[in-house]
Amino acid sequence: MAPSRKNPFTFLEVLEQHVREHRVSFHVPGHHNGTVIDETLPSAFAKVMPYDLTELAHLDDLHDASGIIEQAEQSLSALYASNSKWLVNGSTVGNWSMLAATVKRGERVYVQRNSHKSVWNAIEWLGLKPILLTPTIERGTGIPTVVTQKTIEQAIQSYPGGKAVMLTSPTYYGDMADIRTISEYLSPLEIPLLVDEAHGAHLIHPQLPRRSAIFEGASAVVQSAHKTLPALTMGAWIHYKEDINETRLNHALSSFQTSSPSYLIMASLDYARSYLESLTDEVWSAIQKSHAHFVLDLKRAGFVVKVGDDFTKVTILTYPKNGLIFSQHLASIGIDIELAAVDHVLLCLPLREIKKQEIEHWIKLIKKASTHVPIIEDDETIFPFPQTEPISELCTVTDMRVQRVLFEQSIGSISAETVIPYPPGIPWILKGERITKEKIRVLREWISLGRKLQASKHVMIEQIDVIVEEF
Ligand SMILES: Cc1ncc(COP(=O)(O)O)c(C=O)c1O
Repeated sequence: MAPSRKNPFTFLEVLEQHVREHRVSFHVPGHHNGTVIDETLPSAFAKVMPYDLTELAHLDDLHDASGIIEQAEQSLSALYASNSKWLVNGSTVGNWSMLAATVKRGERVYVQRNSHKSVWNAIEWLGLKPILLTPTIERGTGIPTVVTQKTIEQAIQSYPGGKAVMLTSPTYYGDMADIRTISEYLSPLEIPLLVDEAHGAHLIHPQLPRRSAIFEGASAVVQSAHKTLPALTMGAWIHYKEDINETRLNHALSSFQTSSPSYLIMASLDYARSYLESLTDEVWSAIQKSHAHFVLDLKRAGFVVKVGDDFTKVTILTYPKNGLIFSQHLASIGIDIELAAVDHVLLCLPLREIKKQEIEHWIKLIKKASTHVPIIEDDETIFPFPQTEPISELCTVTDMRVQRVLFEQSIGSISAETVIPYPPGIPWILKGERITKEKIRVLREWISLGRKLQASKHVMIEQIDVIVEEF
């Protein structure tokens, strides 16, 4: 029997009704309710196409919602006890919009160094002045985690006048900041706390050890529903409180998002909200138990495992075996994982109860893949994270003379470009940051190992653009 739903997905139901009526489409999109197709299109895809609709009078308008979209957003707001809006361009557009709504061109913003590239791109294009906050590095694993209240306090004292604090919590690895303490510190200073919670849309249950930042005093929170809930890729949402200027936020959202929001993505957002709402205490408990069971069985099978504050993120610490090669063996037997590095692999678990048989089967396969993995070579770098001061200022790189130099000549100069290992999409070298010997050493190694980098072509032949500093 289907679970009963508090706020059923009215949005999806209206779309269904529309499709059932076999209406004539004299409007975009060009597949005209899925009628402009041929037999080469897979049948499952053809079935979905009629739901890909547009802003007809009874289907509302994301950018000026007053009908079924407004209704669905109200259900979402109720679930997260905040003001909530759908995003169809991922958390990326949410990060851009939170920053645009709170910080003006030329103003300071305090930003976690291990932020996603969407945050750095927004800062660059919006012309903001970032003060970098170095996260705590986890002992033993060397994984960069979260920023403490003390670091934020020091940053505000050393570089006063910033207009917002921008944090990432949970991180890719499921570590979460003490948002309650940080928000209680920032609130009297009237500095809004913005949280990139791309990986935390599911963290709503009151019994979780750490919940979404929106329940802990954050001013605005962005979540990729598509990352941890059953929503289509790009489906995300933003929650915000009274200290966010709604007019500026709405202006940013309608400027940065597509004017043709996908009804498929929006329908999946309404479904994801309804799914989350339907999880009873018993189901939450069964999900968490099954995840804990999986972790325990991994440990019993001899793996060293890290689970962050978020129980759905499981990191297998593969040292002394090579995690990159481990992931290739996993892929060859049909197991695709979220991220691999030299000495670890990261698994994202589904937000559902995992059956005992599934766990047994998965562990068997993971063990099998692991037996073929070679030992890490001595000269391979493990878990590098840029060594920076706890707090530092990023140089603004606009209208400056730029020169392309060989890697070894760049050491000590300020980079004029960003280099991003992907995943996780956290820059290794940031535009405006000083280049160090260590950064170049690691970068060289990644290039030789063929690690996927988002960077200019010339970086692959060991050249980089730097600022010509004139004294
Ligand atoms: C921490 C973090 N923030 C933001 C994003 C961007 O999210 P989206 O892909 O939904 O735009 C990602 C994507 O990986 C991420 O990991």
